Amino acid sequence: MGTPIVARKRLLRFLVAICLVSAFSFVLWPHVEQPSVTTTTISGNVTVTSDVQCDPDTDVLNRLNIRKLSQYVRRDVIAVPSAANDPLPIKHLLNYPLFEPSLPSVDAQGNPLEEPAQKDCKMDDPITVQVPRPPRNVDASHIDFGVATTLSRLNDSVEQFAHWAGYTRTRIFALIEPDARAAEVQAKADLLGINLYITESDEEYQRRYFSLVAHLAQNVRSQTRWSCIIDDDTFFMSMSTLVKALSEYDDTKNYYVGGLSESIPQIGVFGLMGFGGAGVFLSRPLLLELSDPDVFEACQNMDFTGDRRISICVYQNTETHLTINHGLHQLDVTGDVSGFFESGRQPPLSVHHWKSWFHTDMGKLSVVRDICGDSCLLRQWQFEDGWILTNGYSIIKYSLPVDPFEKTMELTWDGENGAVYESYLHEFGPMRPKDEQKYSYLLEDAVLEGNQVRQWYVHRDEANGDQVFELTWRAG
Ligand SMILES: *[C@@H]1O[C@H](CO)[C@@H](O)[C@H](O)[C@H]1NC(C)=O
Ligand SMILES: *[C@@H]1O[C@H](CO)[C@@H](O)[C@H](O)[C@H]1NC(C)=O
Repeated sequence: MGTPIVARKRLLRFLVAICLVSAFSFVLWPHVEQPSVTTTTISGNVTVTSDVQCDPDTDVLNRLNIRKLSQYVRRDVIAVPSAANDPLPIKHLLNYPLFEPSLPSVDAQGNPLEEPAQKDCKMDDPITVQVPRPPRNVDASHIDFGVATTLSRLNDSVEQFAHWAGYTRTRIFALIEPDARAAEVQAKADLLGINLYITESDEEYQRRYFSLVAHLAQNVRSQTRWSCIIDDDTFFMSMSTLVKALSEYDDTKNYYVGGLSESIPQIGVFGLMGFGGAGVFLSRPLLLELSDPDVFEACQNMDFTGDRRISICVYQNTETHLTINHGLHQLDVTGDVSGFFESGRQPPLSVHHWKSWFHTDMGKLSVVRDICGDSCLLRQWQFEDGWILTNGYSIIKYSLPVDPFEKTMELTWDGENGAVYESYLHEFGPMRPKDEQKYSYLLEDAVLEGNQVRQWYVHRDEANGDQVFELTWRAG
C-alpha cells in the first residue's frame, strides 16, 4: 500500500520549510569570529594569553615560575567557626558554582561585547565555609619524639616540625652526627617554639637510630607517657588529634603503636611492624623495658636495621604485639598521590615520604591553619559546577560524575616491589581506578599575609599556558 497523498504533501511542505529556515539562518545568523588566542608579553619574561581578562600580579607569576599564563582567578574564602562541639562532616556541598558562569561575548543583536576587564582578577562573591572551632593550647608535654638524622637535614626539618610541634610543650630529641653548626639550628628551633634537644653522636647511623630508644628512656620526665621514634620527614597533621588518638590506649600498659606499610609487598620485605616513617609509639613501661641494659645491648647488636630492629626487639623480648593505628601513614607510594589526599576521609594522623617518593609540600599545605586551625586541613567543599576544593591540596573536577559522598579512594599512585590493586586494600580500601582525565589545580604555594592566607592552586599546561586559582582565606 502506497503512502497516502496527504502525508506526502505534508512531508513536502515540511522539507520546503526547512530549506527556507536554513537559508534565512545562513544569511541572517550573526557571524561571530572565533577569536583566536593571542599572547602579550608582560614584565620581560612572562607571556599572558588573551583569555586572561585582568591584570595578574607579576611578582606572584615569577614566584610560581609561570612563563605563559592562560587563566588567573582570585576568590576570597571566609572561614566561619562552627558552634563548639558541632561535628562537621569532612565533605560539604555548596549550592553555588566555584567559577563564574562565562559572560556572553555577543549582545542580543549579535554585536561583540566589550568585556569589562577586572583589575585584579577577583570574583565578587566570597566563598563562605564552616570550619571546626580550632582547639586552643594543645598540651603534648607527655609525648617525646626522637629522630636520628644529620644536622643539615634537621635544619630543613625544623620548619616542618614547627607546624605540629611548635608551642605544644612536646619535646623532640635529635641524635645527629657531630657538627659545629648545631647551635645555629638550635636557635632556629627556639624561635619556632620547638623544644629541641640536640645530641651529637659519632655512632654509625643504624646504631644511632636504635640508640634513640635508650636516649628517650634516659630523658623521661614525670609527665612522660609516650615516646615516639620518627623519621626526619614524618609529618603530623594535627597535634590535638594525635593527643586524642593516643588517649584511647592505656599507656600504663605496654603499648607498641604504629602503622603498617600500605603496600603488602613492602610488608613482605620488611615485616609486620610499625613502619618508622609513620611514627613508632612506645608507651612508657615498654620503653623502660626495652632500655634495660641487657635487652638494649642484645637488640643493638642484631643484624636487623632501623624500624625492623625495634620490632624484632619488642617481639623477642616482651609480650607486646603491634597495635596498628590506621591513621599513621608510612605512605610507601610514589608519583601521583592525589587519590589519597582527595579521598575526603578523616585526615591522616601522620604522613611520610612527601618530599622524596612523592612531592606534596606539607608545610605549604598547612599554612592555612593560621586562619582556620589544623582541623580544617584537607576538608572538602564541592561546588554546584562539580569542582571540588580539598583545602591545602587541590581544586579538581572528575571527568565522569562521582557521587559527592563516594566512599572509595582513587588509586592514582605507583607502588614498589610489584604492588597491585589488592596490595593496598588493607589500608586504603575501598578503592576505585584512577580517573585519567581528572582536571587538577594543585597547591603550589601559600603564604600568611597579615590576617589572611593566600593559597595558589596551579594547573600546568606548557603548550596552552598555565592556569592559576588563588584563594584568599580570612576568618569570619
Ligand atoms: C624573569 O624570571 C625570573 C625568574 O626565573 C625573575 O627572577 C626575573 O625577575 C624575571 N625577569 C623579568 C624581567 O621580569
Ligand atoms: C639552615 O637553613 C637555612 C635556611 O632556612 C640556611 O640559611 C642555613 O644556612 C642552614 N644552616 C645549616 C647549618 O645548614
